[in-house]
Amino acid sequence: MTEGTLLVVLAAGLFLVSPIVTAFTIAFFVAVGLILQRLLSGWAGRVGQRATHAEVASYSVIQEALRTYRETVVAHRRADYVSRFQAVRWESAQVQADLQFMSLVPKYVFEIALVIGAALLAGSQLLTKDVSAAIAIIALFLAAGSRVVPSMLRLQGAMITIRGGAGQAAPTYELADELGQLGGGSGTPDPALPPAEIKARLIAGHGDFDPSISLKGIRLAYPGSEALALDDVTLDISAGRSLALVGPTGAGKSTLADVILGVLQADSGEALVGGQHPLTAVARWPGAIAYVPQDVAMANGTVRENVALGLPLEAIDDSWVWDALERAHLAVFLRDNREGLDTLIGEHGLKLSGGQRQRLGVARALYSRPKLLVLDEATSALDAETERIISMTLASLEGQVTTVTVAHRLATIMHCDSIAYLENGRVTAFGTFDEVRAMEPNFDHQARLLGL
Ligand SMILES: Nc1ncnc2c1ncn2[C@@H]1O[C@H](COP(=O)(O)OP(=O)(O)OP(=O)(O)O)[C@@H](O)[C@H]1O
Ligand SMILES: [Mg+2]
Repeated sequence: MTEGTLLVVLAAGLFLVSPIVTAFTIAFFVAVGLILQRLLSGWAGRVGQRATHAEVASYSVIQEALRTYRETVVAHRRADYVSRFQAVRWESAQVQADLQFMSLVPKYVFEIALVIGAALLAGSQLLTKDVSAAIAIIALFLAAGSRVVPSMLRLQGAMITIRGGAGQAAPTYELADELGQLGGGSGTPDPALPPAEIKARLIAGHGDFDPSISLKGIRLAYPGSEALALDDVTLDISAGRSLALVGPTGAGKSTLADVILGVLQADSGEALVGGQHPLTAVARWPGAIAYVPQDVAMANGTVRENVALGLPLEAIDDSWVWDALERAHLAVFLRDNREGLDTLIGEHGLKLSGGQRQRLGVARALYSRPKLLVLDEATSALDAETERIISMTLASLEGQVTTVTVAHRLATIMHCDSIAYLENGRVTAFGTFDEVRAMEPNFDHQARLLGL
């Protein structure tokens, strides 16, 4: 706006002195500006997009290299990652160079244009008028031009910045659109409750939350995949009962757990917890539903922060944390060896073993004393003795807590009230352990292998 105003004032002043020179100056610089704009704005947009892609690619390479570090070292492939990283950084450097170069182009174009403009004006004036008049007009043009050009340059620079920025932002907008179409990112989350309120709610228990599960005709295919991950799954589990999901790898057990938790939406059919959509239940009774995933992620922080994941420090009750750790059979380890709940975990602290991580996941789930507990291979990395202790903890919840357990080790789920055998997304057998065994030869075979 400032540059625009300056240009208007200059044009008005110039117009009073010489309308012809003014008309020429305006027409000339507008033409140069428009041509430059056409050429540069598309370019700036493309370079901006390349900049973002190069940036994302370098982060991906770094993350992948870190995640697969052990495998990469053992397979002697570190050099591949280095050269991939080099290639994306080189691309990034070239993009930066292009952006720098682009910001200099208008300056030289306008300076050359000023000289050419003066020459054209001089030629026309010399042909039509005398020398002194021509010199006066050229002097006027150059004086005006030397004021106009910096102003035009700043305008052009701003345009390039905007176009380049739009280009850089484009991949983010595309991703947001894609998420919107997938039905993800369902709006902004509810505002956080004050810590005292969170604590009061946890202590009050989960009130009238009904932890029964009802699944009707659930069908679900992952985006971009033809095959149904879940095909017409119908199950009813009443409050306080235990359900086990078994079946071969890739059968859809984790997917079904995600549907029960409301993390995934079924394409058709209905998943209800206590008669409501799982996410509605989660919003009304935070902490009433808990989940132990197949691989538990650690947060950078203390044991306390990891167990009461995401809660503000003032809302955390240490006795509850210890209780959860106790029940996950992790308390002894922490009491004896470390600084208790203040022990740091992750990057700058204690690195947990696979089994310790799982037990921390169990403690995390138990912290809020949930009424519905979903465990996806939650004890798969534990030795038999530790697994037995945790199974006993879980068994002690029976009657008060609905549990959904995914497990390959059949000993873990033998005592569940009902068992659903999944294969290719379908429930092919449902009943008690012995009933499913009688119905499903594969299941019987597995049980036999385990000597059950
Ligand atoms: N995020 C995803 N995107 C696309 N397909 C997926 C995704 N997650 C799982 N699948 C596919 O859905 C099917 C069911 O996967 P799921 O993880 O539910 O199996 P599972 O029964 O839990 O297996 P496992 O015992 O190995 O954990 C598989 O064929 C898998 O390839
Ligand atoms: Mg799974």
